[in-house]
Amino acid sequence: MIISGTDLAKEIKNDVKHRVEVAVEKYGRPPHLVVILVGEDPASQSYVKGKGKDAVEVGFKSTTITKPDTISEEELLNLIDDLNKDNSIDGILVQLPLPSHINEDKVIAAIDRNKDVDGFHPANVASLWLKQKCVYPCTPKGIIKLLDKAGIEIQGKKAVVIGRSNIVGLPVSKLLLDRNATVTIAHSKTQNLPDVSKEADILVVAIGKPRFVTADMVKPGAAVIDVGVNRDPETGKLCGDVDFENCKDLADYITPVPGGVGPMTRACLMENTLECFLNKFEQ
Ligand code: GUN
Repeated sequence: MIISGTDLAKEIKNDVKHRVEVAVEKYGRPPHLVVILVGEDPASQSYVKGKGKDAVEVGFKSTTITKPDTISEEELLNLIDDLNKDNSIDGILVQLPLPSHINEDKVIAAIDRNKDVDGFHPANVASLWLKQKCVYPCTPKGIIKLLDKAGIEIQGKKAVVIGRSNIVGLPVSKLLLDRNATVTIAHSKTQNLPDVSKEADILVVAIGKPRFVTADMVKPGAAVIDVGVNRDPETGKLCGDVDFENCKDLADYITPVPGGVGPMTRACLMENTLECFLNKFEQ
C-alpha cells in the first residue's frame, strides 16, 4: 500500500483552516507566519514557495523575506530580533541550510522560542528529549501522523532510522521511542547496513542519497518511510532515498516521493504556527 502524504496533508490543512476561522472570530486576526530565505538555492526556493502557498491556503497572513547570500550574520540576527519583538508575528522560520559564513546554531537560537514553528530552538529540542510540552519538528511529526493514519502499530515494533540529522533522524527516533518502538539509529558509517535495516518493521530513511535503499535492505512486510528529496543524477527528476520501484512490492507500506513526507512537513508547519498563535492568546 502506498501511503499518500498529499491526502492526509489536505485533511490536516482543512482542519487548520477551520480552526483559523474560529480564531479570527475570537482574536480578530489570523496567525502570521514569516519565512526567511537567504540566497537563491533552487530547492530552498521551492520549499519556501510551498510553505507560503500552504500558509495562504489555511488562511494565515504569510510573509516571505528574501535576502541575498551576502547578508552578514549580524544583519540576519538583527532582522530576527525585529521579528521577535513584533507582536503581530506568531511564527518565524529561517530556511536551512544557510551560507557557510553564517552560524546556523546562532541563528536558530536567536529565534524567540515561542515563535519557533520549526521546533529547532535548543530550548525546544531539550523539551522534546525531556518529554515536556514543546513544538514537534515538522517532518518527524508528519511521519508519526502518516504511520498512525495508515494504521501501522508503532508500540513494540523494531524501528530503524537511517540518518541522524537534527532536523529529521534524531527527533523522529525520539518520537518513535516515545511511542514504545525499539529504535536503532543507523547512518552512512554503519557496518553491514542491510543486516541492520532488514530487521526493521518500520524503516525511516533520511540520508539524502538518491535511491540509497534497495530491496535487499528491506524486510518483507515492512513500512518504509522515505524522507529523501533528491534529484536523480541520470534523469534530473525528483526521487527519494528509497528505490521505490525496487522496494514497493516487498514493503507492506511505502511513501512515494513526491507526495509522501514532503506535504506532511508543510501541513505540520501550519499546525505548529496555529499552535504558537493560540499559545500566545490562551496562556
Ligand atoms: N531545510 C530542510 N528542511 C527544513 C525544515 O524543516 N525547516 C527549515 N527551516 N529548513 C529546512
